[in-house]
Amino acid sequence: STDARVEDLLSRMTIEEKAGQLTQYFCFGEVPEGLDVDSLPPEHQAFLRQPQMVEAAAARGGVGSLLFIKDAAVANRYQRKVIDGSRHGIPLLFGFDVIHGLRTVFPVPLAQAASWDPAIIEAAQQVAAREARASGIHWSFAPMIDIARDPRWGRIVESIGEDPHLGSAVAAAQVRGFQGDLGADRVLAGPKHFAGYGAARGGRDYEDADVSDAELRNVYLPPFKAAIDAGAANIMSAYMDLNGVPASGNAWLLTDVLRDELEFTGFVVSDANAVKSMEAQHFAEDSTDAAARAIRAGLDMEMAVMDPAFDTLPTALEKGLITEEQLDTAVRRVLSAKFRLGLFENPFVDEDTSEAILTATSHRDLAQHVAERSVVLLKNESALPLRDAASIAVVGQLADSKRDTLGPWVFGHVTEETVSILEGIRSRAGDGIRVDYAPGVGIPDRVFPSPFDAQDPDPGGQDIGVVDNDDAGIENAATVAAAADVAIVVVGERQNQSGETASRSTLDLPGRQLELVQKLVETGTPVVVVLMSGRPLDLQWIAENASSIIQAWYPGTRGGDAIASVLFGDVSPAGRLPVTWPRHVGQVPLIYSHNRTFAPENQGKRYWNEESTPLYPFGYGLSYASFDYTNLSLSSDTVAIGDRFAVSVDVTNTSGVDADDVVQLYIHQRYGSSSRPVRELKGFERVALAAGETRTVTFGLGPDELRHWSAATKTWVQDATTLDIWVGADSTAPLATVLTITANGDSK
Ligand code: IFM
Repeated sequence: STDARVEDLLSRMTIEEKAGQLTQYFCFGEVPEGLDVDSLPPEHQAFLRQPQMVEAAAARGGVGSLLFIKDAAVANRYQRKVIDGSRHGIPLLFGFDVIHGLRTVFPVPLAQAASWDPAIIEAAQQVAAREARASGIHWSFAPMIDIARDPRWGRIVESIGEDPHLGSAVAAAQVRGFQGDLGADRVLAGPKHFAGYGAARGGRDYEDADVSDAELRNVYLPPFKAAIDAGAANIMSAYMDLNGVPASGNAWLLTDVLRDELEFTGFVVSDANAVKSMEAQHFAEDSTDAAARAIRAGLDMEMAVMDPAFDTLPTALEKGLITEEQLDTAVRRVLSAKFRLGLFENPFVDEDTSEAILTATSHRDLAQHVAERSVVLLKNESALPLRDAASIAVVGQLADSKRDTLGPWVFGHVTEETVSILEGIRSRAGDGIRVDYAPGVGIPDRVFPSPFDAQDPDPGGQDIGVVDNDDAGIENAATVAAAADVAIVVVGERQNQSGETASRSTLDLPGRQLELVQKLVETGTPVVVVLMSGRPLDLQWIAENASSIIQAWYPGTRGGDAIASVLFGDVSPAGRLPVTWPRHVGQVPLIYSHNRTFAPENQGKRYWNEESTPLYPFGYGLSYASFDYTNLSLSSDTVAIGDRFAVSVDVTNTSGVDADDVVQLYIHQRYGSSSRPVRELKGFERVALAAGETRTVTFGLGPDELRHWSAATKTWVQDATTLDIWVGADSTAPLATVLTITANGDSK
């Protein structure tokens, strides 16, 4: 059995070999021949010397895993060195950030969450897993399932959005997609970052998070529970301090909560350098102390950028800071994952089939389909779909930037394979429609550069479409727009302005993009704004004055085709916002599921200068069709605690257009052991409705949906209460009913 094989191997390993299995090195491959490493800046030298470091460590059995190799031949070469060159020949586990695709890039994760379609998300991650495995990768550092409620935080783009219920469904779907049966075309999933990373103060990346026990369990942990229940093999611990203790050295978090409460049995890896940085965070005394604290807390593998802290584990053992049993527990978990994946039997990847898998047409088609399903139509007066336009002005640098269309967190792409929005529109328009392009204005670079630009395989892509003179660019764009039937202006943030280390203090459109839109609107030509961003941006003026607005996110390899098919009405948009869209940065964090105040109708009391409502609510999104909700009914008006019941509604497509709708169910309990949010999503279903069709949608609810962790009792409770239930098109749905929940034994 696997257990017996693990024990046998373990019994023959030295302490150094055990520590080695628990170490993961960054390794970007091999040093290019002829490169004079000594002539480079010291930080680059260190990275380039990594292969030598890895080889030396591998020879002494001192490496368990590598990250960042994404080439089948390179992976095989390292695997061969380790298998042949170390005493036990334990295969390497290759990990990589396969966040939203590899060679085929899918829309960014927040966009995928906007599809409200777990099945399509699962399919996307299954394709990502296939491409990863074909490249020699065994393990994806994804899904990123941090609840994100502050759009200033750059990593909101990688997240599942603000809601635990939607987030849990998306998290589980991603784990299923990556792992499936863990066959030869699947990878280990590594949900991250455990836990509370999204609560970083002020949206500032890596800043500490202070999250109450109740908030942690009711909001931040449910997606992790869903991922673990779906079988996630790995969890990545977060960088930051959670309630004053670094997450990667936090025994309460990594053992009491993760192992005992959430029943996680896989292995935990730290975020990059997160063990060593416990010293920088002034928590650990030195590397040995940091390594020992991590092991004692329940962390199994260190993701090491340079000089692993886990090299000191033998010293920590000698000093009595850890026990050999603690070390063995971690090694067991890592070896079990390798056995589970079948690496001892099949450590190598087939280099000959790799390219065909990476370029499969079916993968690209799916990427387009997912992008079409992720688009959110925020406003539509009459400009869309584009049916009668004989001439179209396409404006904005982002329309013509393939690299930006892919978004952040891509490393395996080929930029030229990307369909930009301009290309997508041109090819969909065909010969009969004139398409003129004007870049408009430049988008200024970040004030502080992104450390990720250095890792981008296509840094040149950053420079696409630079405009030298904004005044002339605006004038030219207005002239082009004035001569067209409709203007489509693509504005937003460049891809490196969103993502890790890409937090912002404002949410405005960078540079003079708003002025560009204003000048286009002044021409009188209907203006469709297509927004490319990984977070809500300040759209107040645009929401009032543009004809239509589409949130395209960063739509991926076939993004241009997808946006064109939505613009032309080949598909009706049905994406819905997975985050509340504020009017102004000063409102954030702004969520729909806040608690009720003593003065519910307190307009003007929250802010005297600004509405306290969002610009667009959570769950919002328009369609080319229209829908009616009727006949909201309950299987019973009264149920006892613990009982399940059903909520049904009839949804009718009242238009002449076939379209999807996302039916959403929200609840609120009027009294109980603690105050509960004004509304909480507890059910949703994306349904395809032909023109005129009516469908009955039924949701089942019970204790799992109705319980909460009460700060008053410090336990999970389901209260006897009166429950409001709404079903409709977003978190402001008006159609409501009421249910009574009685204490056990009181039900009628
Ligand atoms: O997986 C990532 C993590 O999300 C952030 N730090 C680096 C890791 C490896 O790239």
